[in-house]
Amino acid sequence: MIKQNIVVHTLSWSCHLQSVMPRLVKLGQTMLTIENLTKSFGHTKAVDSVSLSIPAGQFVGIIGRSGAGKSTLLRMVNRLAEPTEGRILWNGEDVTTLRGMELREWRRRCAMIFQQFNLAGRLDVLTNVLMGRLATTPGWRSMLKLWGDDDRAIALAALEQFDIANLSAQRADQLSGGQQQRVAICRALVQEPDLLLADEPIASLDPRNTRIVMDSLLRINKHFGITVVCNLHSLDLARSYCDRLIGMAQGRVVFDDVPAALTEHVARELYGLEAGEVMDGAEQTGTTEGFAVSTAA
Ligand SMILES: Nc1ncnc2c1ncn2[C@@H]1O[C@H](COP(=O)(O)OP(=O)(O)OP(=O)(O)O)[C@@H](O)[C@H]1O
Ligand SMILES: [Mg+2]
Repeated sequence: MIKQNIVVHTLSWSCHLQSVMPRLVKLGQTMLTIENLTKSFGHTKAVDSVSLSIPAGQFVGIIGRSGAGKSTLLRMVNRLAEPTEGRILWNGEDVTTLRGMELREWRRRCAMIFQQFNLAGRLDVLTNVLMGRLATTPGWRSMLKLWGDDDRAIALAALEQFDIANLSAQRADQLSGGQQQRVAICRALVQEPDLLLADEPIASLDPRNTRIVMDSLLRINKHFGITVVCNLHSLDLARSYCDRLIGMAQGRVVFDDVPAALTEHVARELYGLEAGEVMDGAEQTGTTEGFAVSTAA
């Protein structure tokens, strides 16, 4: 009976998301606009006059060598870092000035996952995922962790989507890195975001878990229609999974095109001495372009 309920909730929840998302994807309308965004730390310009338009439904990879400004750019979009100059617009609305409830709502709409998962290790998996419902739960209920049946069903449905419902009662710090990142993805998904920001989500994972997590992100993008912007160190993974690559160097955008346009020559310019390291990734993971396409459904 419980299982049946979860399945019904899974279906209605995916249907709910999918009834909204494909319409946006078809239109391909610009959702996120970044205008002359700059972040200075003292004399260092971590992000330097970046302007971008990201339409609904894209899987965008941000690439570039260490220190290029990739994390700072994502953190500003999520408002974890305040821009020194410039604006971030969401469907035309300036999100750089949001405060209080509106800022909370913006953070619900643009979920973020991190290299180090950021789970509450001592809490069980289900509670960790339920944390993603905080923005949609009244304050007093979330403080007391009084989740509704609907919230539990949605959290379990998300865990089922990524084959980890059997781990729901386990402590988060007892899971493998790949499992933890999938829990973090579920937590992000139950926020029902329009945009998922991922900062080097596979940097701490082995090749097998790298593939599982990247496939999960691809599924979020293709199945649920959620726009994904993902910082990646491995060029080969970026090429395999992303629709569009944005290359950054010294805080600036120096490449913005489809992966096929990223020649080895450009990659070497982008990465300098690190080029060999980032281009060896495919051999280690066995990832190919065909693999990414075959798992896109
Ligand atoms: N809080 C901070 N205080 C001072 N400088 C910072 C801070 N955060 C980032 N920087 C500097 O800004 C620049 C960009 O850093 P950022 O972390 O965005 O790079 P990145 O492309 O994400 O690098 P990596 O691939 O190593 O994660 C670097 O020079 C970094 O030292
Ligand atoms: Mg970074």
